[in-house]
Amino acid sequence: MCGIVGYTGREEAAPILLDGLARLEYRGYDSAGIAVQSRDAEGSMRTQVRKAKGRLKALCEMTGNGRDVRGCCGIGHTRWATHGEPSVANAHPHSSGDRRVTVVHNGIIENYREIREHLEKKGHVFTSDTDTEVVPHLLDDYYRGDPVEAIIRLISRVRGSYAFGIIFSDRPGELYAVRKDSPLIVGTAEDGNFIASDVPAILKYTRNVYLIDELEIAKLTADEVRFYNIDGEEIEKKATLIEWDAKAAEKDGYEHFMLKEIHEQSQAIRRTIEPRLADGRVVMDELGMSEEEVRAVSRIHMVACGSAYHVCMCAKTVFEETARIPVDVDLASEFRYRNPILLPNTLVIVVSQSGETADTLAALREAKARGHRVLAIVNVVGSSIAREADSVFYTWAGPEIAVATTKAYSAQLAAAYLLAIFFGKVRGTLNDAEARKMIKELQKLPAHVDRLLEEKKKVQLLAAKLAAANDMFFIGRGLDYAIAMEASLKCKEVSYIHSEAYAAGELKHGSISLIEEGMPVIGIATQEDLYEKTRSNLVECKSRGGFIIAVTPYGNYSLEGVADEIIYVPKTLPAYMASVAVVPMQLFAYYISLARGLDVDKPRNLAKSVTVE
Ligand code: G6P
Repeated sequence: MCGIVGYTGREEAAPILLDGLARLEYRGYDSAGIAVQSRDAEGSMRTQVRKAKGRLKALCEMTGNGRDVRGCCGIGHTRWATHGEPSVANAHPHSSGDRRVTVVHNGIIENYREIREHLEKKGHVFTSDTDTEVVPHLLDDYYRGDPVEAIIRLISRVRGSYAFGIIFSDRPGELYAVRKDSPLIVGTAEDGNFIASDVPAILKYTRNVYLIDELEIAKLTADEVRFYNIDGEEIEKKATLIEWDAKAAEKDGYEHFMLKEIHEQSQAIRRTIEPRLADGRVVMDELGMSEEEVRAVSRIHMVACGSAYHVCMCAKTVFEETARIPVDVDLASEFRYRNPILLPNTLVIVVSQSGETADTLAALREAKARGHRVLAIVNVVGSSIAREADSVFYTWAGPEIAVATTKAYSAQLAAAYLLAIFFGKVRGTLNDAEARKMIKELQKLPAHVDRLLEEKKKVQLLAAKLAAANDMFFIGRGLDYAIAMEASLKCKEVSYIHSEAYAAGELKHGSISLIEEGMPVIGIATQEDLYEKTRSNLVECKSRGGFIIAVTPYGNYSLEGVADEIIYVPKTLPAYMASVAVVPMQLFAYYISLARGLDVDKPRNLAKSVTVE
């Protein structure tokens, strides 16, 4: 989950590295560092390392925005601590004793203890508590003048997940990279070549990238890039053109990425829907599944983490209603370790914005190993999950930078609706008229979302009023419970207010004891057949002192007497209500965070892409 960037070329490296890291800070931000090959006063090449604890700003100030560290080849890192507290000593890059080898790392080296003991016996001195530090030392031990050979020995020795950027002080202008279970790309441009853990880091310089595959090694110089397999043989790779334009990863006048991305939702939904519609039908050739294969599916098992898991909760309702296929939903971190029962003809659907979430990737591999087809709903093109799945459905939400997901979540929901319609149609559970209606309503969603954004002032006022709360409840039934889960997570992530999402009917079986005078209780009531039930649950909370906020469609005025505040949302099909109800909840979380003076795009302790278990 850390960010990696590397550059070798004709420009000064440090400012490029810092600029790249600034775009990767969402991957981790407790410390940062750069290493650059520089000539010393005598003219010999040395690797200079600068590191700072805290946000990247500290490193920029320390290095005069990179101007003080001269040289045209280097690596940089922004960290999300796993082994060892955030500190200068534990920040990357890490070097061997004489800085002959310097490394940045994303991932975890599982057998670092035994390697460290072994190297210590040989006289290597360690200065950090990290797992990463064994890597430069081990490479130094193996290095006999051929970096690729040393790297091959390294990857045969270490266990775990990694993306490494490596420089050797006696190989000026050369930058090496290798990966396993952690993302890493190579970018090529006129004035030099790059490595990065994510596309946004280098989007400003190039859109021409190579996706490094598992255990492939890349060697970059200012003028060329070469790739090697684990046997040290040179291999040919094809470049990919990234469609995102550089502006997509900029704030573009918005105060924060989160607000920008909330505003980009209608566009994200539209971009996800439109390419899949033709002549009033849903077209899914990209899945590579024949109608026969779609009909043969007897169960769906959806697996994901975080907000993507909440999408699965919503998708379950929609799929079961529309395509009449039973759907199980699992957290990826649970699925992989509980020997899940997957009946024959079960289609496994994994959902992930980044396409790199370690648990989701492991769940995908588990399902494939058991012989099941895996369909992935993914945002990042060429990500590990996209590459390993049997079928890929890309959400075209564009780069998402804020840690708390908004537009990717909305695009994932849209993807789930399209798949449900497609499955329903092929399997005959949906007739032509029903399918047409669902498609028509789907196409109206972007306009509904935009309308909600026009009314954001009201949500902002409400957020200001409740910003001092210590606890909150988000409740709902059925699909509304799934929406409540996402609303509660959003709030926790960026406002640090403790909150719980509860199935509204379950509250009275224990947790209602927590309701105190003035505690905000947000009731999601978008499902017409459940209005009355949810209303009763809100009354129960109100009579115990709760401050009731309801989220419900225009036209349902039955909550007027119960709720202290009501946020009305446009009405669409019950199946799609998550797409509209979530928008004010995202704004609510955003404005509370702002009112509390927090760093909304980079909330504490979190990282956007969780590539460790
Ligand atoms: C992290 C993020 C969440 C995200 C989850 C799954 O925890 O902070 O916002 O929902 O990972 O990420 P994915 O990239 O797989 O959708």
